[in-house]
Amino acid sequence: MAADLFLGLDVGTSSVKSILISVDGGVAAVATAPLSLDTPRPGWAEQDPEAWWDASRTVIRAVVDQRPNARVAAVGVSGQMHSSVFLDKRGAVIRPALLWCDGRTTAECREIETRAGGETQLRNWVCNPALEGFTLPKVLWLRNHEPAAFARLATVLLAKDFVRLRLTGSIATEPSDASGTLMFDPAHMRWSREILDAVDLAPSLLPAVAGSAEVLGQVTKEAAAVTGLAAGTPVVGGGADNACGAAGVGAISPGDAVSSWGTSGTVLAPTAQPRVDPKLRAHTFCHVTPDVWYVIGVVLSAGGAFAWYGDQCARELPDGGGGRDAQLVAEAANVPPGADGVTFLPYLQGERTPHRDASLRGAFTGLSLAHSRAHLTRAVLEGVCFALRDSLTILQELGLAPGQLVLTGGGAKSAFIRQLQADVFGLPVTTVNREEGGSYGAALLAAVGAGAFPDLETAARRTLTRQPPTPANPEIHRTYEPIYDRFRKRLVASRA
Ligand code: XUL
Repeated sequence: MAADLFLGLDVGTSSVKSILISVDGGVAAVATAPLSLDTPRPGWAEQDPEAWWDASRTVIRAVVDQRPNARVAAVGVSGQMHSSVFLDKRGAVIRPALLWCDGRTTAECREIETRAGGETQLRNWVCNPALEGFTLPKVLWLRNHEPAAFARLATVLLAKDFVRLRLTGSIATEPSDASGTLMFDPAHMRWSREILDAVDLAPSLLPAVAGSAEVLGQVTKEAAAVTGLAAGTPVVGGGADNACGAAGVGAISPGDAVSSWGTSGTVLAPTAQPRVDPKLRAHTFCHVTPDVWYVIGVVLSAGGAFAWYGDQCARELPDGGGGRDAQLVAEAANVPPGADGVTFLPYLQGERTPHRDASLRGAFTGLSLAHSRAHLTRAVLEGVCFALRDSLTILQELGLAPGQLVLTGGGAKSAFIRQLQADVFGLPVTTVNREEGGSYGAALLAAVGAGAFPDLETAARRTLTRQPPTPANPEIHRTYEPIYDRFRKRLVASRA
């Protein structure tokens, strides 16, 4: 009889990915399906939740078909955070979801602060400030701008919880995603009655919260028919993509730190308490393991900025299999640090950390006739690393200074980008023996839920190995210091 496999699904922004892993951690199958992003206006970002479900069932069927004799013992789901799925009482999608990188809700953020009685109150209730990308301001935006749609609203869900609903028929969430809604109190692990009362929203809009490794539903007959999974297959809570990405590289304990380069870029450090940045530049969320939280800085356009740049400035290069990105990176490697004076500000959708400004926009500066595409590419890659360093600096200020960073996401796969991160951060960086990020963390949670491991720590210990670190080159790090300074000053100039 074939051994049990565990399925991990990651509902990202640019794609949905599905993997099967075995109990020894080996990856038995992988499939991805692309997603497109709608930007109806500058600063807005939407996706249709049904497109997540279509892509999810396609990639689930693809991995199941790759292992026809295997039994999928459990499914774990990971997904983009904060994205608002608005459902009516029959579970139908009311309108496209406003995504984590949507910046239209500045007025609603001010409304939340006013109704709450100030930012200190928000910190006490939900450990975070009101930021455009979080879920609560989007619910208020619906109420303020689309009252007919709001009148039909029965449930607000996160992206991966919507996919679990389509798989199992059960409406639920878990703490790592709930804590990104601004409606959950991460310190007391419950929906915040205080904030819901302040903004006059009914708690019935929100799903029940259970554990990330807990079984929250079983695959229905209908979902079995379209995915190839067996009806009755358990589906666990799973987690927010950043939490599952950290779990997928074994970063679940205080003392670890992760730099992730997906569509967004993040730097996070797990903590044993819900630590809050006194200046509220970084966020505080629950991890996917009990009694662990993390502090995270978020760069809204990391891989997203690089993809935008490739789409707009290197259209003629073939995109298939990452060939375009590899060629662009190879060109950039021939340009010196600092791109001969070109700076790129990656604020294409505004910025969360450290600027908390949805109205910021991107820029290239310092261009001359002497510059080529290679300089622009290098400036884009450096700009993303500098923005990530802004987040790392906050973690260091909070005393969460890691001795090294574990890399995950696209930036972990390129030797050049790994070295660039080490050199800009001035810290060694490392990777693990698996590259699947959030989907791997989700698969580990599925394995824990199925009883293959007693807990996530054991699952990570038995399946993941850290690779030898890539040290920073001290000379190049010194070269980058004034260039990082230039990057920060350009922002000040662009705001003036
Ligand atoms: C985190 C955030 C992003 C998304 C990307 O706060 O908004 O990293 O989770 O999927």
